[in-house]
Amino acid sequence: MIEHDVVIVGGGLAGSRAAVEIARTDPRLSVAVVAKTHPIRSHSVAAQGGIAATLKNVDDQDTWEAHAFDTVKGSDYLADQDAVEILTREAPDVVIDLEHMGVLFSRLPDGRIAQRAFGGHSHKRTCYAADKTGHAILHELVNNLRRYGVEIYDEWYVMRLILEDGQAKGIVMYRIRDARIEVVRAKAVMFATGGYGRVFNTTSNDYASTGDGLAMTAVAGLPLEDMEFVQFHPTGLYPVGVLISEAVRGEGAYLINSDGERFMERYAPSRMELAPRDITSRAISREIRAGRGIHPDGSAGGPFVYLDLRHMGQEKIMSRVPFCWEEAHRLVGVDAVHQPIPVRPTVHYSMGGIPTNIDGQVRSSPDGLVEGFFAAGETACVSVHGANRLGSNSLLECVVYGRRTGATIAEYVQKRRLPEVDEQRYRQEAEQQLQALLDQPGQYRIAQVRQAFQDCMTEYCGVFRSESLMQQGLEKLQMIRQQAQQIYLDDKERLWNSELVEALELQSLLVVGEIILTGALNRQESRGAHAREDFPDRDDVHFLKHTMAYYSPAGIELRYRPVTITLFQPQERKY
Ligand code: FUM
Repeated sequence: MIEHDVVIVGGGLAGSRAAVEIARTDPRLSVAVVAKTHPIRSHSVAAQGGIAATLKNVDDQDTWEAHAFDTVKGSDYLADQDAVEILTREAPDVVIDLEHMGVLFSRLPDGRIAQRAFGGHSHKRTCYAADKTGHAILHELVNNLRRYGVEIYDEWYVMRLILEDGQAKGIVMYRIRDARIEVVRAKAVMFATGGYGRVFNTTSNDYASTGDGLAMTAVAGLPLEDMEFVQFHPTGLYPVGVLISEAVRGEGAYLINSDGERFMERYAPSRMELAPRDITSRAISREIRAGRGIHPDGSAGGPFVYLDLRHMGQEKIMSRVPFCWEEAHRLVGVDAVHQPIPVRPTVHYSMGGIPTNIDGQVRSSPDGLVEGFFAAGETACVSVHGANRLGSNSLLECVVYGRRTGATIAEYVQKRRLPEVDEQRYRQEAEQQLQALLDQPGQYRIAQVRQAFQDCMTEYCGVFRSESLMQQGLEKLQMIRQQAQQIYLDDKERLWNSELVEALELQSLLVVGEIILTGALNRQESRGAHAREDFPDRDDVHFLKHTMAYYSPAGIELRYRPVTITLFQPQERKY
């Protein structure tokens, strides 16, 4: 059996930052990062626009309190404000720490880190590396993993969280290269497994964003929090759905409908294109519904609107948002210096996740904690984003709570022994699970079932939701679940069997999808990204609370947890 003091699942920003913190705090600890891709290929690498922090390099009136207020208002008052206070107070320090590690931020003429405007932020506080900020940060963090001697298991798929008697004891994983199964025991397990964008058919997320860590946690009997809050990024490139960064609007681009109108005037006159994402995504969807979308031939009534950069000029486009220009050019043949980019909302981010306290320890219930289990980053719900995340707060969460969780773990494991684990049992069960998938004589291809599932989630639990729509979605999901029991694999071998990975991922997607739909059906109000046509208003009397969803194959049980309000009382949210 493999043994480490700490095993971290996920090699993106949160996992890598935590690993570095543990290794820095106590170099004697044996720390492992396990990831199904190489850490450099984690989805964090795709983050574009920036990381928020009140460095005050561009706007000396900015304060952490203003950042905290923007974040809480952006969250539609569902964020836990003690967690937001930590996020925003520690932001400048974590960014300077990244700079000291060598991250190549873009600069002002005087050499200080440049900062730009971002949606829902009242000051220019988003630090950036052109429009490749995640790339710049992740590369330095992964370099530091090597520097600090963190052991990396890349291209290993984690199949199971070992949770016994309320304690996390390790994981079961298999090497994708040859399906070799290993049981790992550890004094602490941390999940930093990212989001689940692939639950939907149009997403800015990587193919690997299938919610595996979330599903493993749920299947182990632990709750997931606020999963009904799914962020749609307003500007997914049409038709592919990849991200065209909010930085483009932060640098001055306009959103235009088929009448050539800057329609955000109607929806958020004080913020225009830099309104928070929930509001901007709904605005675009409403324009399209009202027939003011655009067709590929330029005529009205089509499925997208335009993001117009032309007035920004070539020099600014190429220096501030070169990657977005390249994406539009490479993927849909649009030269954004001379032509507007076709965009529509795309699934981008999960506000909900594995519930944790402010030190990253996972909650077993509204008031209980799991021994030995930690989480941070998109997969966690601490909850700093509540019902809607502000752009550039996600990289920030990864590094603030990655660092904080790492520090907690470094201390936590000092008092803990390696747990007893029945290696044979876990190895055998994993072996049977893989073999059963390989041997299954089913009738459906994986891609067929996955597509039906993604279409179902997109149609029945999208930007606008209603009870009848979601009921239909849940019924359809039951049929799709049955089909998923009858998939077959063409590839029966164990070497580089990517179908085997896809079969396991499909199981994750289904668990996560059912939790999202059930949470959304039960939340009979509209708040942040959760927009109910049958309950159009926010309802603080009944729903100013976090959903805690407990999964079982027989159904999902929902409980609730109060919101922590320390700084700002809920108000009407207007921009
Ligand atoms: O639009 C963006 O660049 C995305 C940033 C974020 O999700 O924080």
